Amino acid sequence: MRTAIGIIGAGPAGLFLSHLLHRRGIASVVLERRDRDYCERRQRAGVVEHGVAEALRASGAGARMDRDGFVHDGIELRHGGRGHRVDFPGLTGRNVLIYAQTEIVKDLIARRLADGGEVLFEAEATAIEDIGTDRPRVRFTRGGAEEVLECDYVVACDGFHGIGRASLPADVVRTFEKVYPFSWLGILADAAPSGDELVYVHSPRGFALHSMRSERVSRHYLQVPNGTDTADWPDERIWAELEARSARPGWTLNRGPITDKGITPMRSFVTEPMRHGSLFLAGDAAHIVPPTGAKGLNLAMHDVMLLADALGQWADDGDTAGLDAYSATALRRVWRAEHFSYWMTTLLHTDPEGTEFDRRLQVAHLEHIAASEAASRHLAENYTGLPRV
Ligand code: APR
Ligand code: PHB
Repeated sequence: MRTAIGIIGAGPAGLFLSHLLHRRGIASVVLERRDRDYCERRQRAGVVEHGVAEALRASGAGARMDRDGFVHDGIELRHGGRGHRVDFPGLTGRNVLIYAQTEIVKDLIARRLADGGEVLFEAEATAIEDIGTDRPRVRFTRGGAEEVLECDYVVACDGFHGIGRASLPADVVRTFEKVYPFSWLGILADAAPSGDELVYVHSPRGFALHSMRSERVSRHYLQVPNGTDTADWPDERIWAELEARSARPGWTLNRGPITDKGITPMRSFVTEPMRHGSLFLAGDAAHIVPPTGAKGLNLAMHDVMLLADALGQWADDGDTAGLDAYSATALRRVWRAEHFSYWMTTLLHTDPEGTEFDRRLQVAHLEHIAASEAASRHLAENYTGLPRV
């Protein structure tokens, strides 16, 4: 099998890249080890930055997002029974959309298949070869048989546990990592959201987040110790803990049947460089952020927007300047998002090793954000997505 761009992974990064390349007349094949149903059901994040929503729209893949997504003009930071609203349009002229990543994946799969795109499900990449040449190859297995995909470039969009990162030569790669001493317990519930906007809660009992998926479905998160088993969190315990952490006069938590429970570990991780020879990394394959800043999906989308432009330049006139600059350009946004995600995480979570001094600093910082327009704008600019980094 032969194509121009071999893409590993049908997450948002791989699918959006394949779609953007198609719009520029560049052929690609997407290899995905899971089946379509699995990819479309995975519960992931749900905040789409202003610029990413615009890019989806401009590519013709934003219709359902604009119909079913919710425009959010702010978030609430809550602590000590008080809330501070960060007004996005007032501070930055931008907003965000609440639209689940899993819905973006469904939209992009449907669109690729309608456009005759090749998305091969249950096709697992097993090796990436000859990346030091201009004829790299991806070995993959499908239906028990081994096949080979030959291409001009390979883009590994295969997530944190994929083979892309491991295929870069060990002597050229550096990785940077921070593992946090807590995780998130996330639930989906058939309950109306407990407000119109997201609420990020700092409390002595730990962090909580109130989000939503639709007018009838809520998404909530609780900080829990690493190694937590959801079996230790029956529904009643979850609701009681959400209430205890988030209480604020005039606010009530809407309860309903819990339909999904999961644990998310919290990690910061960066790979440098994001390219070697004819292999590129994009999305979670190259970097991970803790979800507190809602940056994971958005970073993945920004990587492939950059790469689609660079590959367009290469396809149009053989100019590889964009491809040569990809790693350095992408890493500037990655490190900005790494800092913001770390900052939001350490501002709002209770470090189990921390002291009362650390907690006082967090409260002082939260009060400063509430009192200072400049401090609120810092948060709003980063949260809604910086146009240029
Ligand atoms: N062969 C084929 N497919 C693979 C392989 C392989 N060897 N290894 C992994 N994959 C697939 C996975 O099954 C998955 O569908 O690659 C895909 C990677 O998708 P994502 O994990 O969604 O990564 P990405 O597209 O970069 O999106 C990043 O996902 O984890 C969240 O917070 C993160 O929102 C961010 C987004
Ligand atoms: C979500 O809705 O899943 C969500 C929202 C905001 C975050 C993380 C996750 O920061």
